[in-house]
Order: sequence, then C-alpha cells, then structure tokens
Amino acid sequence: MTTLGTPLSRHATKVMLLGSGELGKEVLIALQRLGVETIAVDRYDNAPGQQVAHHARTITMSDPAQLKALIEQEKPYLVVPEIEAIATAMLEELEAAGTARVIPTARAARLTMDREGIRRLAAETLNLPTSPYVFCDSLADLHTAIDNKIGYPCIVKPVMSSSGKGQSKIAGPDDVKAAWDYAMAGGRIKGGRVIVEGFIDFDYEITQLTVRALGSDGKVETHFCEPIGHIQVSGDYVESWQPHAMREAALKRSREIAESVTDNLGGQGVFGVELFVKGDDVWFSEVSPRPHDTGMVTMCTQVQTQFELHARAILGLPVNTALRTPGASAVIYGGVEAKGIVFDGVAEALRVPNTDIRLFGKPESFVKRRMGVALAFDADVEVARVNAKKAAGLVKPRVAS
Ligand SMILES: Nc1ncnc2c1ncn2[C@@H]1O[C@H](COP(=O)(O)OP(=O)(O)OP(=O)(O)O)[C@@H](O)[C@H]1O
Ligand SMILES: [Mg+2]
Repeated sequence: MTTLGTPLSRHATKVMLLGSGELGKEVLIALQRLGVETIAVDRYDNAPGQQVAHHARTITMSDPAQLKALIEQEKPYLVVPEIEAIATAMLEELEAAGTARVIPTARAARLTMDREGIRRLAAETLNLPTSPYVFCDSLADLHTAIDNKIGYPCIVKPVMSSSGKGQSKIAGPDDVKAAWDYAMAGGRIKGGRVIVEGFIDFDYEITQLTVRALGSDGKVETHFCEPIGHIQVSGDYVESWQPHAMREAALKRSREIAESVTDNLGGQGVFGVELFVKGDDVWFSEVSPRPHDTGMVTMCTQVQTQFELHARAILGLPVNTALRTPGASAVIYGGVEAKGIVFDGVAEALRVPNTDIRLFGKPESFVKRRMGVALAFDADVEVARVNAKKAAGLVKPRVAS
C-alpha cells in the first residue's frame, strides 16, 4: 500500500530532484499535485524547477561532499536525478547505506551518466545491436580506431556530454583533427575521452518511452508509450511528434530492446530509450533513466504526460500510458544572449489551432538554449507538426529594452 503525506508537516512525503530544468519542473508539478513535498536542486539559483518547488537548494551536484551533506540534511524519501552530471558514486554509497532511495537505481544513474557505461552494457552484456564503436583517449587513438575498425562516415562524441555538445560527424580523414578538438572543447570533463561511432544510415529515429511501475501484486510491470519520432539538429532535439508510424516488426523489436535494457537498469520510473530504425532493423542508441526531452510532446498527446507517469511510477502508483490524440512539439530557442529576456508573440502563437506553449522561466538566455516549447495536437500528426513549428516560430524572444 502506498501512503502519501501532507507537505510541510511531520508526515510529508519528501522527494528531491537533482537537476531542476524544464523536465524536472514538470516532474515537480506532477509531484506537487499528489501532495508531495518537493526539494528542487540545481547548480544555479532560480532554475525552472526551483520556481515551483517547496524548497530550492543550489549546490554543485558533481561534488560528492556537497551532495552527501544535502541528502543527509534533507532526508528525502526519494532522490530523483534529472541530469547526468551528478556524483553518482556517492549516490551508490548512500543507497547502499540505506540513506537514500535513488530513482530508478543509483547503478542506473551511474551507468547512464557517461556513454561508456551504458554502451558497454547494451552491446557487450545484453548483446543489443548498436553502431560499431571504439573509445579513444587521444587523437592518435582516434585515427587508429577509424582506420582499423569504424571507417567513414563516423561520429565523434565526448564520453560525458549531452544535447549534442562536442559532437560532430566526420566525412573523411581531413575532418578528424577538427572533430577531436571540438569534442575536447565540448565535453563536461577536461582531458576527456571520446566515443567514435560508425554512422547508422537510419530511415528514422524514435524515443520509446518505457515505464516500470508497480502492478496490483506489488511487482514491477513494463508499460510502453506510443513511439515518438523526432528530428535532431547537431545532436539536439528540435521537433518531436507522437505517434510515429512504424511497421509492426520494427515496433516489436524496439520494445524488446527497450525492455531488455530497462529490465537490466531496474527500479521504477520512466525511461527514454533512443533507437535508430531502418526497415525492420533497430539499433539501440542510448537511454535516459528519466523523462526525455523529446517526450515533452506527451504534454499534449497522452492521458498522463511522461512527467505524471514518472511521478506515479516512482511513488508506487499505477500508470496509464494511453495516447489521447496525435500531436507534436517544437523547440523555442533563446536566439539572444541575455538575462531576463522577454517573449513577444505568445498570443499570436496561441491563435494557431490546438496549440499550447510552455516557457520554462530560465533566468538567462543563450542563442541555442532551449527556453520553451510549442505543443500542438491534431488527428493528423503532420498537421500537428506544422502547427507546432508555426507556433514556436511566432514566439519571439528578445532582450528587454
Ligand atoms: N552512430 C550514429 N549514426 C547516426 N546518427 C547518429 C549516431 N549517433 C548519434 N546520431 C545522431 O545524433 C543525435 C544525438 O546523438 P546522441 O543521442 O548520442 O547525443 P546526445 O548528446 O546524448 O544527445 P541528447 O542528449 O540530445 O540525447 C542522435 O539522436 C542521432 O540523430
Ligand atoms: Mg540522445
């Protein structure tokens, strides 16, 4: 039986989000609706999720000592990582000591925090199909890996990076040095390691949102959302839609792969499994053990958004992954570099039929920073895509005068 408490009382059910960006903000709102007391942690003040939580804490989450001190002080019932750059070894220690329950598990947070842990698990332990890959620690290693195993074209990515940072495609030998330098500049840790992957010439890519939630018998059951199609530009998501039409065999294979990797990672919650599809062939790319950025589309398509699914699953409550309507999302970028920007055109955007807007409330804008998202639903997913992009394009961020 799940018992929930009253926030700000002795009997509160306390949940701590590690990372309070746009995805964390929506998880926090979903938790608030269930009367959970929320603690939003981020590396800077006034992060989106901190604006909607009971408590806001600003620490360096990659610093084990700071992380330990905060968790021991707050004693949350659950610790929910929302980003990758966290001292995950400390989370494992605290979980093993019984101090904290980490979502989905501390091991999953560690394995997915860099590309190496999850890639080796998927390809070498679970024998799932992936692109061919080699990990390299120097430009010389990179040349050798490409010449001996990977070939051209290929993709180089820092082992620790997300949203396409430091990632580039190599067409031929002349590009190798530039790709190495770009990866070194874009990784989260200096003197970094890279993965070089053979380029998969896929027909399309999807996110298979997969939910591990408790059934009435108290055992974990796996639920699948409808597949989400998306377009990435320079490794960053710009547009997504749901459902993405798929042949039955490819969908079945996608779900087998998703189940295999999420079963191994374990725990409860939402996972975003990224897959490449060509005909009936499916390759595993990577997985987030948490809601996925392309899954923001579920805010207009599903009976329960991916954030509500996550909140429910982690609290041991039942979930419903049903689609309500086809729909789409399109990213609103900052376009300018400034603090405290303003947004023109929101009314015009919302006049596009069946649309909605989320502005994340980030205190500072960068040209390529995701500041909001436009959502659109329609019985025809292609119409929804057009309308979401139209609405996103009508929102004009600018420096306040
Ligand atoms: N081996 C590959 N072959 C073809 N395309 C690829 C390959 N690896 C990555 N891509 C493309 O680049 C995108 C981003 O790659 P990946 O997901 O590994 O990076 P990321 O930085 O973790 O991105 P995000 O954090 O946005 O998920 C993929 O969604 C895909 O479009
Ligand atoms: Mg990705």
